[in-house]
Amino acid sequence: MHSNIQKVLISQEQIKARVAELGAQIAKDYQGKDLVFVGVLKGVVVFFSDLVRAVDLPCEFDFMWISSYQGTSSTGSMVVKRDVSADLKGRHVVILEDIFDTGNSLEFTYNHLLAKEPASLRICTFLDKPERRRAGVSVRADYTGFTIPNEFVVGYGMDFNEKYRNLPYIGVLKPEAYEK
Ligand code: IMP
Ligand code: MG
Repeated sequence: MHSNIQKVLISQEQIKARVAELGAQIAKDYQGKDLVFVGVLKGVVVFFSDLVRAVDLPCEFDFMWISSYQGTSSTGSMVVKRDVSADLKGRHVVILEDIFDTGNSLEFTYNHLLAKEPASLRICTFLDKPERRRAGVSVRADYTGFTIPNEFVVGYGMDFNEKYRNLPYIGVLKPEAYEK
């Protein structure tokens, strides 16, 4: 275990088993449909690469990169840094996200992609922290890997100051790790 990790919240084995279940469920739901996965960079890349390989269906990949105006996540004012490249009109789109926290990112992403007139639009999030949701956020996750308590987590794509994304499990940092 990494020396800055206080505890492992979700192990590699638990992740593997749950991602396989999610993939099987999505494959069942999208059989015969023109499926496009849209990942929200950067935190989703690890989940994205595991999840798509658990979906035994033809599909396409695309990516969006968004950020908040001030670099804070509390404002709700988001901007598209990199838009999807595919034409999503009339297609079945599943947004993949690392974590559903306040909901600002997913609400923005959902509305942005809805304007491209997909045939359907759903959300698949690896983690959900419902206690953190901003009042008024109306989007919901159609597929959720794990629901977690209100703790800041790292690993499996998620970072603190761009570090720890490559940890293969979900962990909680030691308090002193925030000072580094
Ligand atoms: P939002 O607050 O739902 O808009 O989440 C915004 C983004 O903040 C997520 O996509 C993550 O990249 C990041 N984030 C939220 N909670 C955590 C966490 O516990 N650890 C690492 N990143 C997080
Ligand atoms: Mg993210």
